Amino acid sequence: MSLEKVIRYINSKVEGHDVTVGQMYGTENFCHLLYSLVKMEQPDTIIELGVGAGATTCMMAQAVKENNKGFVFAIDNGDQWKEMKIPLQKILGESLADESYENFLHKLLEKLELEKYVHFKNITLTNKQFFDPKKPVDLLFFDAHDSGPLGCISLLHYYLPKMNKYSSIFIDRASTIHHAYLVLEQIIKHFQNKAIPECLLSALDDKEIKNLRHIVSTSKFTLIHLTETGKAKINKTQNSTAWIKIEPIDLYHHNHVETFV
Ligand SMILES: C[S@@+](CC[C@H](N)C(=O)[O-])C[C@H]1O[C@@H](n2cnc3c(N)ncnc32)[C@H](O)[C@@H]1O
Repeated sequence: MSLEKVIRYINSKVEGHDVTVGQMYGTENFCHLLYSLVKMEQPDTIIELGVGAGATTCMMAQAVKENNKGFVFAIDNGDQWKEMKIPLQKILGESLADESYENFLHKLLEKLELEKYVHFKNITLTNKQFFDPKKPVDLLFFDAHDSGPLGCISLLHYYLPKMNKYSSIFIDRASTIHHAYLVLEQIIKHFQNKAIPECLLSALDDKEIKNLRHIVSTSKFTLIHLTETGKAKINKTQNSTAWIKIEPIDLYHHNHVETFV
């Protein structure tokens, strides 16, 4: 029942725009993939950088709720709230004109019965400032200020030492921003050769360097470009997500996945 409620919200038409809530930021299809993946892998610590109208946050939170396991840290500074609030108020069925972004999210999550599974933090992200959950990260979705090459490098610089040994990083649009695509291809090739580009090591403390060296030397890195055909998209520029999958090098899958003979 409550999954239907979330999907109904995501498919609602946004007043004055010829798009749905999901289409507003181009994750109308990807949010279903995230829901499925959270159901399949049951991550504990999920971080979403850039919440927008909550399409992907709510789908991941719904999966966390169904799993009865895990938590979504949702980070946003409400940068685009001014433009969003009037179009969204009809869907929520109440005036949002004087509401803060934080209150809107609170109301939305309450309506969808997801408030227990999301922890919102108002943080202005920069290429030097991110959010530290103080525990290993299982799933990271970056959809905020900079999906270009520098944004990708700073994101990986900050989060790779913090990623769990079986985890995923998703970067919105990076696969179809050409320089970002090439930078990611290059970084992952280095990791596959057990080498770490200098720019990812600089300014890390000893513990982070140790963690990064450990994760690169013991992990298999797979880069998948999740691209969407033009025909599927209203919001044409929001047409890809780069997926970096991190797994321990082993003869078996981890994350309690059974293998059969
Ligand atoms: C593309 S939307 C996120 C969409 C959401 N992930 C989805 O697919 O449903 C980007 C969000 O990032 C936020 N944002 C942009 N720059 C930011 C920054 N520097 N720090 C924190 N949040 C930021 C905006 O306020 C906006 O809500």
